[in-house]
Amino acid sequence: MSDYKFIAGDKKWWRQAVVYQIYPRSFADLNGDGIGDLAGMIDRVPYLKSLSIDAVWLSPFYPSELADGGYDVADYRNVDPRIGTLEEFDKLIEELHKVNIRVFVDIVPNHSSDQHEWFQAALKAGRGSPERDRYIFHDGIGENGDIRPSELVSHFGPTGWTRVTEPDGTPGQWYLHLFAPEQPDFNWDNQEVRDDFIKTLRFWSDRGVDGFRIDVAHALTKDFSDGLPARSTMDIDPTKPDGSDPLFDRDEVHEIYRQWRKVFNEYNPPRVAVAEASAPAHRLGAYASEETLGQAFNFDLLHADWNTKRFKHLISNSMKRAEKSGSSNTWVLSNHDVVRHPTRYGLPDKTDLVKWYISEGKSAPLDAKQGIDRARASTMLILALPGSTYLYQGEELGLFEVADTPREAMQDPQWFRNPGKARSRDGCRIPLPWATNQSALGGSSFGFGPGGSHLPMPADFGKYSVAANEADTNSVLNLYRTAIGMRKGLQCAEEIKFIFNWNRSVLHFARPNGWQSFTNFGKSPVKLPKGKVLLSSQPLVGNQVPGETTVWLQA
Ligand code: BGC
Repeated sequence: MSDYKFIAGDKKWWRQAVVYQIYPRSFADLNGDGIGDLAGMIDRVPYLKSLSIDAVWLSPFYPSELADGGYDVADYRNVDPRIGTLEEFDKLIEELHKVNIRVFVDIVPNHSSDQHEWFQAALKAGRGSPERDRYIFHDGIGENGDIRPSELVSHFGPTGWTRVTEPDGTPGQWYLHLFAPEQPDFNWDNQEVRDDFIKTLRFWSDRGVDGFRIDVAHALTKDFSDGLPARSTMDIDPTKPDGSDPLFDRDEVHEIYRQWRKVFNEYNPPRVAVAEASAPAHRLGAYASEETLGQAFNFDLLHADWNTKRFKHLISNSMKRAEKSGSSNTWVLSNHDVVRHPTRYGLPDKTDLVKWYISEGKSAPLDAKQGIDRARASTMLILALPGSTYLYQGEELGLFEVADTPREAMQDPQWFRNPGKARSRDGCRIPLPWATNQSALGGSSFGFGPGGSHLPMPADFGKYSVAANEADTNSVLNLYRTAIGMRKGLQCAEEIKFIFNWNRSVLHFARPNGWQSFTNFGKSPVKLPKGKVLLSSQPLVGNQVPGETTVWLQA
């Protein structure tokens, strides 16, 4: 196990950090099995360092049957042998810490894999057993119990209940799963479940992990005292935005996080956490307080059109919320669940992204230049805001969503289980292209690995590769490197002041040290304000800021 070394610096480092999300299976594959691995990450530490990021967040790398891309965890305290070993994990932490990059790992507490030893034990132990009490089992309705306990619809398809076969071979009880049937929900009223997650948090903290991303953090505690819910689990019940929804965002969930906080604070420096919680905006602060997880993702910009007023409104609201909870803001444009933002910004406003995906990208025209211009501008805008920025691997290369992956190669359960109704998230999970030449490593994976890639890579992927980006001084990668590096030296108090501009397409604000960010959301050039230009997402034309461009200035 690596000897954890404190990385010099502020204990509040996470409040204004740039965190880069690695989707392990699609980052870099060293052993040539087509699946990214820890050895691949270790090999690419110099690349990560070149981004000037403060931390990486690793999506699940645990043993898993991959029913949901690794979010179906079979063993919370181990590494999937296809991805590596615990020794390699320790080595990765050590190498990242050497270059001052901290590490977040993903904790998936709402559900395990059906292959988890506890779920297997629950199946064998039968009705009413302590083993079944760790999950949510119910008898079915009707004389033979063959009608599911309620009309609950899961995130990934028609039902949130699956029936098991009892040890004697007869059809038996049903268990609840908010996601795929291979992801049974834990019963968080069960003390063993609570204790086991504490053990997991300590296990990774002891190995030197600096922080945790908490998956579906709003769903752990459930209350069925008024009956079993019969509805879709996609969203919180809009009539119950106050902690009374039986499935989501119940006040009791914070008891769990208060206990976790005590564990985080046993370490030096204290471990940090960020909640993935789909709760109403006014309730996110409870996840982000100093007594609970500390930070919560703000996903507002994932759904926002490219529009000055909208961005300004969302930013102001987020700033107010952060002030109230004492937490810092978080900014996210892309992750492993959503359509990559250059694609969102390149499609006409209000495009139905599900339809667009199902049509293999044919239902609406993609304006690639517009998409990338806006992506460059929005990244610089969010990097200038107070708080943490979460980046998703590949956005620094200017990758677009891939909508035409051969259907037989798809992996995402959201796609299989909702025919004709949902997109596949595989489109943003295609492995990273490292080389311009498709067969650079002998395989067909643009340098991802010598043995091809677990999801097919489009033939034109080489033009987005790290190598192609590095060869072009104006590339997206070079902009990210410069902007993130420069941001480090510009950080100051977590405040902004909006600067009025007559032009309604302009969003202009200043930080207390005079660092200004000026975004022209419109298509026509606008006059550059006074100040020393530090960086621009597009070349300036005289004293004009081109359309869809962000400029940083020092007043
Ligand atoms: C993750 C998804 C996953 C789901 C179930 C989400 O919040 O980001 O990728 O499918 O949780 O674990």
